[in-house]
Amino acid sequence: MAGSKGLLAFAFTLLLSNGIKAYKFEEPKCETAEEHYIMYPASDPRSFYVCLPDGNPRLVECDAGHVFVNDEQVYGCAPFSLWPCNKNVVPIDCSGADRDTLVRAQDPHNYWICAAPNGTPTELPCPDGKGFVKNSTHMGCISWDGWSC
Ligand SMILES: *[C@@H]1O[C@H](CO)[C@@H](O)[C@H](O)[C@H]1NC(C)=O
Repeated sequence: MAGSKGLLAFAFTLLLSNGIKAYKFEEPKCETAEEHYIMYPASDPRSFYVCLPDGNPRLVECDAGHVFVNDEQVYGCAPFSLWPCNKNVVPIDCSGADRDTLVRAQDPHNYWICAAPNGTPTELPCPDGKGFVKNSTHMGCISWDGWSC
């Protein structure tokens, strides 16, 4: 009895740690036939690369509100809500803790701010080519190449 419970907890932990993967850019390789069937994550997570028949990579943008996901459930563009990187993204609380800070939006290119005069939640984009990062050492817009979630 205790043994199977332990095993279950172990399996659950594995599932969780696999599910929350850091986003990882992959250099597209378009040499072999197999490599031509792969979708490669781009540095901007809202897009990916495919290989053209001539062997050159081509950047493809997901539809608005979608990011490229490659995990156990999804291989392709998925809504923001299904993205492991958004697991800990919560709406800004302008009446409390978040009044004087910035909060990442579901769209990794955007962030929320409590705008004056009444502390209205306002979603703003980072400059082109940048995503929003907030962790224990960084807060702000950062080039997609250095972006992490
Ligand atoms: C915070 O994010 C930056 C930018 O992506 C990254 O370089 C850094 O390692 C992160 N720090 C932690 C503690 O995760």
